[in-house]
Amino acid sequence: MKPVLLVISAVAVAASVGCVNLKRSRDLGNPNIPVNVTVAQVCSNCHGMDGNSKSPNFPRLAGQKKDYLVTQMLNFQNHARMDQAARDYMWGVVGYSDRKLDRLWGVTDKTWWGKALGVNNSGLTKDQIDGLAEYFSAQEVKKSSQLPDFQELFMSQAKRTQRLAAGKEIFEKGIPGKAVPPCSVCHAPDGHGLAAFPRTASQHSAYIEKQLAVFKENVGRPHTPMEQVARDLSTAEMRDVALYLESLP
Ligand code: HEC
Ligand code: HEC
Repeated sequence: MKPVLLVISAVAVAASVGCVNLKRSRDLGNPNIPVNVTVAQVCSNCHGMDGNSKSPNFPRLAGQKKDYLVTQMLNFQNHARMDQAARDYMWGVVGYSDRKLDRLWGVTDKTWWGKALGVNNSGLTKDQIDGLAEYFSAQEVKKSSQLPDFQELFMSQAKRTQRLAAGKEIFEKGIPGKAVPPCSVCHAPDGHGLAAFPRTASQHSAYIEKQLAVFKENVGRPHTPMEQVARDLSTAEMRDVALYLESLP
């Protein structure tokens, strides 16, 4: 093959790999790259430039609590968040880092003693993570461009009204019979969250459902109160509450 053709086919392969291009993201841990460039070149492919992702496969980050965003990026980096979608999509983006020693003494893998201690802090730096969290938490929540979630396409208006009411009940009152606490206690009465408690209002319902199943089956998110909360939720209850949360402004 001629060199030119080789280059073209390499580009074609890279393009077809699309979002899950791990090679490109290896250079991400360069602290000199400004936040908006990282967002434009990487995050926007899936989450949208303003964090209002169109596809329910990708969570909305717009208006999300900054502390929560930081925690999640660190959880992806140290592989504490390890459900399938986290591995497939986010591990390559943030790169690996345990940050245990980094947190205590600021030890990095850029020094010989850091290397000798086995520190591996490649990937996004703590400052980059902070900047990205700041950026997305400050974005305005917009729902206009959203694609409809698949399950909603075939739902009658009457059914939808009934399910939204059931979801609202769970959100505000919990399910006393099963000792499921009201979600609003932690996620705030308007669903906008607080610090480490994420915003769940206007999140894609399909994403919410998926996360509730991950918490329930305990297959990939670190230990939090959500394990207990989701344990006794049925699939139908998860759907109802997810639909209600998505409907909140
Ligand atoms: C290839 C697509 C893709 C790219 C590119 C991508 N993400 Fe993600 N992101 C996802 C998916 C999918 C999830 C949901 C993972 C899960 O279900 O556990 C996610 C989850 C997240 C979460 C957790 C959200 C929550 O509500 O818990 C954060 C924070 C995040 N991404 C930040 C970023 C940032 C910052 C960038 C750019 C540096 C980025 N992502 C690039 C696909 C992507
Ligand atoms: C005792 C406090 C508490 C209660 C009650 C609670 N949550 Fe949570 N929830 C949390 C915390 C803390 C997290 C963040 C977990 C993490 O950092 O991984 C969370 C995370 C979530 C997430 C993941 C958000 C994302 O962007 O990935 C969803 C969805 C969720 N909660 C839904 C619910 C629902 C629905 C209810 C009610 C049935 C509920 N929560 C009740 C504390 C709570």
